[in-house]
Amino acid sequence: MSAKLKGKRYICENCGYISSKWLGRCPNCLAWNSFKEINEPEHQISGDRSLRISASRAPLPITSVNVETLEEMKTQIGEVDRVLGGRIVQGSLILLAGEPGIGKSTLALQIALSLSYQGKKVLYATAEERASQVKLRFDRIKKGLEGSIDEEGANNLHILEAQNLGEVLSVADDYQLVVVDSVQTFYLPDLDSPPSNISQVKAIAHELMTHSKVTGTSYIALAHVTKEGLIAGPKYLEHMVDVVLMLETYESFRVLRAVKNRYGRSGEIGLFEMTPFGLKEVPSISWLTPTGSDPGVVPFITLEGLRPIALEIQALVTKSYLERPKRLSWGLDPVRLNVILSIINKYLNLKIYQYDVIVNVNGAVSLWGQDSDLAVAASVLSSLYSKPVGDLVFLGRLSLQGRVLPVPNLPARLEEAKRFKIKGIITSRQYYDKLRDDTVEIIYLDRVEELKSLIRDHQL
Ligand code: TYD
Ligand code: MG
Repeated sequence: MSAKLKGKRYICENCGYISSKWLGRCPNCLAWNSFKEINEPEHQISGDRSLRISASRAPLPITSVNVETLEEMKTQIGEVDRVLGGRIVQGSLILLAGEPGIGKSTLALQIALSLSYQGKKVLYATAEERASQVKLRFDRIKKGLEGSIDEEGANNLHILEAQNLGEVLSVADDYQLVVVDSVQTFYLPDLDSPPSNISQVKAIAHELMTHSKVTGTSYIALAHVTKEGLIAGPKYLEHMVDVVLMLETYESFRVLRAVKNRYGRSGEIGLFEMTPFGLKEVPSISWLTPTGSDPGVVPFITLEGLRPIALEIQALVTKSYLERPKRLSWGLDPVRLNVILSIINKYLNLKIYQYDVIVNVNGAVSLWGQDSDLAVAASVLSSLYSKPVGDLVFLGRLSLQGRVLPVPNLPARLEEAKRFKIKGIITSRQYYDKLRDDTVEIIYLDRVEELKSLIRDHQL
């Protein structure tokens, strides 16, 4: 059936939701003014290719399936490898998304260069910039490598300036990794629509996915995100690809986040700083202010994937003169804050409802789970009593009944905490005798009530 016979259809350029009417706001992803009329049949380009693939496959008994060992490429950039789950898997399609100017091209070029030094053949296909611009970026990055440059190795990295993705695909088989910069600037000539149009972006992702699986070439496809933080054009690109990496800013840092990873855990993050010579890894970071800090400030170690991050929870608790006392939080789930305040209210008998409570998380991440319960409660009490506790790390969850419960992966958090000058950690009694560590004092709590005297009487 032709598109005309079906009548008009509209697609949300953001998430791919299809509607028979034009809508001002997408009911699926809530984007405004994102609907465009669909005016070309959907699968014009890839029918040929998919037929060829299916012809070469036949059903097999499961016992006769060969498990091929896929080649794995380590980028040897520690922060990137961890986020990727250890390596780039052969034949995978990785989407690297971020706002314009954030450093996608820089990171992709650094990955490409590092692999070429290891003798891998890498193609950097650019529609976004001229080859000469990529070369200038390459020269800057090379300066940062301080002499450890292998001119021979760099010859494995090829640049292709093109707009037509077909030109890239026709040579891609010769390479182990191909960078496509970007999915919004390349186009497939078989489609009428201009580059960056939703059908182009979708078709390009589809072509790259098919190509990567058939040939075993891995792809890193760069994509811009819109202000709302969604992958510009179709958010559903996320569903099509193997890995989605988001590059974001936090203060002066660049945070690389695995939003989706078919080969590893999602939620893993890597940290970088933009320097005059490309992105530099930040393997260890802390948002702790010097010890002996102010009342209301409590250190906490969160886990982002496998990576422990030291940050600070800062609370300000003041007598309220409002009918409904203020409850404000940044970087902390407001619902969780209310739950913690209710627990304090009931078991510590503190009339916390007469106080305004403001909580801020100082660090590159937001806290959504329950692991920071004890630390948040401690920061509230520390501010309330004006007693500093900056040299104690609180690692426990709170049950609605006021019990202090364990947090996952305490040993990893403990190791990270020990890198800073802390006096001790406060955690659940359930760890009693399980944590063998003589280098730091460990205080075990059964119930939240014990927190009151601990903080009120804490001597620095
Ligand atoms: P770029 O990788 O071009 O971002 P994207 O591809 O996401 O649009 O880098 C963007 C910014 O980084 C640009 O403003 C210049 C700056 N930059 C540096 O500060 N140092 C460098 O070594 C490089 C290559 C870029
Ligand atoms: Mg770029």
